[in-house]
Amino acid sequence: MDLQAYLKKRKSIIDNALKKYFLKSADEPSSINTAMKYSVFAGGKRLRPILCFAACEICGGNPKNILPSACGIEMLHTYSLIHDDLPAMDNDDFRRGKLTSHKKFGEAVAILAGDGLLTKAFEIIDPKVVREIAIAAGTKGMVGGQVADLEMEGKRKKEKGKLEYIHEHKTAKMIEVSLKAGAILSNASSLKIKAISNYGRKIGLAFQIADDILDIIGNKKKLGKTGSDLKNKKLTYPSIYGIEKSKEKAKALIKSAKNDLKIFGKKAYIFNELADYIVKRDF
Ligand code: IPE
Ligand code: IPE
Ligand code: MG
Ligand code: MG
Ligand code: MG
Repeated sequence: MDLQAYLKKRKSIIDNALKKYFLKSADEPSSINTAMKYSVFAGGKRLRPILCFAACEICGGNPKNILPSACGIEMLHTYSLIHDDLPAMDNDDFRRGKLTSHKKFGEAVAILAGDGLLTKAFEIIDPKVVREIAIAAGTKGMVGGQVADLEMEGKRKKEKGKLEYIHEHKTAKMIEVSLKAGAILSNASSLKIKAISNYGRKIGLAFQIADDILDIIGNKKKLGKTGSDLKNKKLTYPSIYGIEKSKEKAKALIKSAKNDLKIFGKKAYIFNELADYIVKRDF
């Protein structure tokens, strides 16, 4: 199957599954429901739940079993974007082609919409993977990476070690755990879980390198965000290595990631396509 058709099909399954978690309830203020829905359905690529799906499929699992966890992962990811855009963080006005949550609803509601999504995620994620996902999202994972990202803003001394820490934590951990959760929930062997996790860590790092490059040279309309790394003096791959070398690094990671899945033989085909897609998004 061609990759675009593959992505489209899974995205629509995930979008449909997500919808049922946002039906209005008499027990919650409708304003928070509106704000959460606004960001979740603003047009994300659904990369993380698609990877969770793909890991389940390659391990012979039933996608129905992972759908709630895949939806929870997307909610968690959306919360991280809402908070990432806040004035106290990256201070961005556009996300997924629309006004950011705080621009649309005000800061207080945006913070609470993020809190609501994070909490709802753990209401629906399968208990068998809650701990893994909590660790990947927390201070030893995404939150830790975001803290280091903010602490390195404007620093003149460019520390390569810190750069790797930031990218592996703020982005790669969640991508890795999306795949790992799909494999665990399909009762995959520890050898397969390990291979899929290694692949995830590498494509996750490559994904953030690509995001850094696109922040500078990407098509703002296609990205749905305006790019703010230069304004915020962020420590990014292009800021240390330049665009060309950053592209090379991302491509090398993709090559190595593909190698990790050799144990799956021909079944790894779609993973190779997904890996290529990460570095071919417009560059
Ligand atoms: C944006 O993630 C944040 C990063 C980790 C770079 P995505 O590029 O996956 O954003 P959406 O979900 O498609 O909007
Ligand atoms: C954020 O990285 C990663 C998250 C954990 C949300 P960026 O700040 O580079 O993400 P974008 O470019 O705003 O999507
Ligand atoms: Mg950021
Ligand atoms: Mg940002
Ligand atoms: Mg970015």
